[in-house]
Amino acid sequence: KIPLPRNLYAPERRNSPGVEFGDAASLKQLLADIAEAKPVYSAHSIIDGKERTATRRPVLAPATGEAIGEVSDADEAVARDAMAAAQGGFARWSATLIEKRAQMLDRAGDLLEQRRGTFIALLQSEGGKTLDDCVAEWREAIDYCRYYALQARRSLAPQAMPGPTGETNELRYRGRGVFVCISPWNFPLAIFLGQVTAALAAGNSVVAKPAEQTPLIAYAAVRLLHEAGIPTSALQLVTGDGVAGGALVDDSRVAGVAFTGSTEVARIINRTLAQKDGPIVPFVAETGGVNAMIVDATALPEQVTDDVVSSVFRSAGQRCSALRLLCVQEHVADHVFKMVEGAARELTLGNPSQPSTHVGPVIDTESKERLDRWIDSHASRVRYRWDSDHTLPSRGLFVPPTIIELPRASDLKEEVFGPILHVVRWRAHELPQLLDDIESNGTGLTLGIHSRIDARVMQIADRLSNGNVYVNRNMIGAVVGTQPFGGTRLSGTGPKAGGPNYLRRFATEQVVTVNT
Ligand code: SER
Repeated sequence: KIPLPRNLYAPERRNSPGVEFGDAASLKQLLADIAEAKPVYSAHSIIDGKERTATRRPVLAPATGEAIGEVSDADEAVARDAMAAAQGGFARWSATLIEKRAQMLDRAGDLLEQRRGTFIALLQSEGGKTLDDCVAEWREAIDYCRYYALQARRSLAPQAMPGPTGETNELRYRGRGVFVCISPWNFPLAIFLGQVTAALAAGNSVVAKPAEQTPLIAYAAVRLLHEAGIPTSALQLVTGDGVAGGALVDDSRVAGVAFTGSTEVARIINRTLAQKDGPIVPFVAETGGVNAMIVDATALPEQVTDDVVSSVFRSAGQRCSALRLLCVQEHVADHVFKMVEGAARELTLGNPSQPSTHVGPVIDTESKERLDRWIDSHASRVRYRWDSDHTLPSRGLFVPPTIIELPRASDLKEEVFGPILHVVRWRAHELPQLLDDIESNGTGLTLGIHSRIDARVMQIADRLSNGNVYVNRNMIGAVVGTQPFGGTRLSGTGPKAGGPNYLRRFATEQVVTVNT
């Protein structure tokens, strides 16, 4: 067996190797694992290890519109019981040695690696994701388990503090209590597990509430964590919609909330937490962004094209990191726009189970209708629509890749969560105004810059406060432990997921001073 390459800068850390798509045998084995995977048909809440059923609703596959399973929608009573169970499990879990907690998370990473067929099949069917997106997400999920295990050992270890002779001072990090983790449908495995494993690593018990569209994969992930050794009392699952989520956040026993989703819902949660009696608790929110890429005349058009296409259309644009607004310097703008349109024309849309598919469906009917309406309402500004020279698949929730030209960057104020690119032009003397216009949307997640002028790159990066800045590359797919991910302003509270400061936000600090 050839040993896996290790990260030279952190020898104890390695990212999951994933799958080599260029190797026919590896791809064949991956497809065989997916075909042989045991399907997961139902998702119910799991309280103290037992299933709790409630009103059932079908789970629909975005690619076909067919029911692929069913989910129980928890009501307030189920949410309350989950909180009580997690409260009951807190003392034991928070007293579990950090090393033991970390070993369980490492084991969860190993189990995920072994069960790739099951999880990739679910990402395809329930999430509507293309094969390369599925593999990338499965890897990211494994990386979160292992990275937070490592960070628990490293950043949550007790620290001896300097002090006078005659006393010892020790700073300890401890779990806060019950953490509620509310996760999105666009990364139903990686972000779900990222939040849950961080909260567990820090010694909290957890009530996890996955997105209503993607409960099956969350159910499978919770069962896997229990199998990896996480006590059933320390981790509860509540499946359902906003009713269950609202009841959890409103519960007086909440010691913290981790949330990834829209800014609008983040504001509601923030208000609910602020208005409740009881302790003031941390809120770790990661939301969206109206993400721009600035391209100047020194950029390489071929590379820009490649990076724009993957940043906009991969995952059908359903990533919070995705590019929404491409800003190109005037005298290369037509050239760059034409190249991007040409590349968009080459994209294949269709069923995500085909390895050749580039762009899959959007998640649900509501998303499709909203995106179609957006395109229609900008009809006079549309530069390119994929379905002007291709036929959209007859079944499933497909939105045509579309490019819309706007007069100014400040014309785009909302996050359009789909395969739609907006483009604008700028002249050299207008750069300061362009940056003001970009900033005026209020968000601060990802920012792309394509330029070979170093001073300009730094001028832009210094002027804007975006959390993740990508220079001369695409702007999606942050790697755990390498590109800690998260935004500023309306895009989130921080600290960054997959970064060294994340776990401490889930912990509370205690100093023990002993007169010796
Ligand atoms: N972490 C994801 C990315 O970087 C967020 O959508 O693409």
